Amino acid sequence: MTSQGTAPSKKSPYLRLLAYARPYSRRFFLALGCMIAASACNVVPPWLLKNVVDDVLIDKDLSMLNALPFVLVALFAGKGIASYGHQYLMNWVGQNVVMDLRLRLYDHLQRMSLKYLYGKRLGELMSRITNDVTILQNLVTSVLVNLVVQAATFAGMVGFLLYINWKLTLITFAILPLTVVILDRAAKKLRGVGHAIQSELATLSAVVQEAFGAIRIVRSFATEDLELARFRSSNRDNFRAVMHGVQVQSALAGIIEVVLIAALALILWLGGKDVVNGDLTPGELIAFLGYLGFLVQPIRVFTSVVGSMQIGLAATDRIFGLLDTPEDIVTPDSPAPLGAVRGSVSFRHVSFSYVKGQEVLKGINLDVRPGEKIAVVGPTGSGKSTLADLIPRFYDPDSGTVSIDGADVRTLDLRELRKQIGVVHQDSLLLRGSIAFNISYGLPGLAREEIVKAAEIAGIHSFIESLPSGYETEVGERGVTLSGGQRQRIAIARAVVRNPRILILDEATSSLDMEVERLVQKAMDKAMEGRTSFVIAHRLSTVRSADRIVVLDEGRIAEQGTHDELLARGGLYHRLSTLGETTVP
Ligand SMILES: Nc1ncnc2c1ncn2[C@@H]1O[C@H](COP(=O)(O)OP(=O)(O)O)[C@@H](O)[C@H]1O
Ligand SMILES: [Mg+2]
Repeated sequence: MTSQGTAPSKKSPYLRLLAYARPYSRRFFLALGCMIAASACNVVPPWLLKNVVDDVLIDKDLSMLNALPFVLVALFAGKGIASYGHQYLMNWVGQNVVMDLRLRLYDHLQRMSLKYLYGKRLGELMSRITNDVTILQNLVTSVLVNLVVQAATFAGMVGFLLYINWKLTLITFAILPLTVVILDRAAKKLRGVGHAIQSELATLSAVVQEAFGAIRIVRSFATEDLELARFRSSNRDNFRAVMHGVQVQSALAGIIEVVLIAALALILWLGGKDVVNGDLTPGELIAFLGYLGFLVQPIRVFTSVVGSMQIGLAATDRIFGLLDTPEDIVTPDSPAPLGAVRGSVSFRHVSFSYVKGQEVLKGINLDVRPGEKIAVVGPTGSGKSTLADLIPRFYDPDSGTVSIDGADVRTLDLRELRKQIGVVHQDSLLLRGSIAFNISYGLPGLAREEIVKAAEIAGIHSFIESLPSGYETEVGERGVTLSGGQRQRIAIARAVVRNPRILILDEATSSLDMEVERLVQKAMDKAMEGRTSFVIAHRLSTVRSADRIVVLDEGRIAEQGTHDELLARGGLYHRLSTLGETTVP
């Protein structure tokens, strides 16, 4: 299940969708067969009616009468079985296509860069995976089924009509489009009136909402009468729109009926003449009219299917559009071996922007020795988090390189790279599951001692032990509620359990109060031991002990050095630290 290297396909979305049904083609064609069979059963009844009239009622043929009940029951039993067959089979195929496509989409989305994902609203992505895929399933199953069944039924009935009397059929089909056009016009007009009523109603409620939302203002300006007048006028507009709708609706209902009956009358008159002349039997005329009546159904379903098909194809377009968006951050075809990482990190002329033309990092040069502890400080929005995010390659720089032990991160295997980097953010999220699951996240089957060791580094072991179920305690919605400080320490354990060479702590203590911060700070100090570390922190106390402090300002390194050196310089760091904080909110 990999979607790497998905080149945008030029094929039509409908064909691509059918390609997803290919693995299930046997059931698919079986379903098609069932559909044709069900349609055939639809076509027969008016023909039976002809036999009833001509052979039974007129010629008094008893054997025909006796056979009739059996034929009818057998026919509908057959139709029932065929319908069951195509519905079950098509849904089976459709649901399988949905499962496959959902999985593809999910897999693809998970691999998309954060830059892409953050640019989208979560709801939009979820809508692709749930709504759009469901719409699409509808397209495969009900729309396709309707299309086939109704088309086959329509063709069968037209065939019978031609067979009964081709001249009458041709005349009928000459006037049919005219009626369809008239009916279509009428439907459009009705929709227009419906919209108008809706929008008047919306205006009315907006007027109410506005007036009551601003009721204090209305009161203080004593404008109740003015507002009432405005509401009265809106209310009257609404009345007019509704009454206009009633007029149109009632008039149209009559007109439609007249048009239909006129068409029917014409056909009846022509057909009746044929019966009188002996060109047509009475049973044939009745069957003919019967077929005409039944024809309405396929035509109606057809038009509604066209609507659903457009909706379905739009969803298909959106889904394939998403699948075709190339993954921009991928492991190269032949990744450079990483080996035992020492942990040096260097930025060379690195520039980066989320949005074209707005550089967030500008020409960053920074060399970090293995095991060095770097504090990154600077005003909010100066690019600290972005700088840190480039190391695990959440983003690629626009220009310049980020390297680890001298190897450009873009040449490395993504998994290998990220395994070497532990990250703790502000307000760490824990996932649904036990504490042990959360600490060993992504490392199934990790030995308990390893988990405990990580918890000890994070200073949370004794707390976990004190819980009734210890490491098996569930966290998340249905589990225990952990405080911010406890969550952060579990997140630290999660970051160090892989024994990464590089640790990134991005405002890990920023949302904690002073008291708890000290505990988490201790855990962080322990976690950083022997690792190259990047600490982004708010409070001066966290930063002071770093080997080197890098001060970012508007995407540039404004100054760097030790705490004392920077204070002596009297620059941005000096200004920030006199505020007692290293970032200006
Ligand atoms: N996903 C994103 N999409 C667009 N702009 C972003 C995104 N993340 C951050 N930015 C912008 O980039 C700049 C730097 O952000 P960030 O690195 O988070 O700063 P810091 O961590 O120093 O507060 C800010 O102006 C921020 O608005
Ligand atoms: Mg930040």
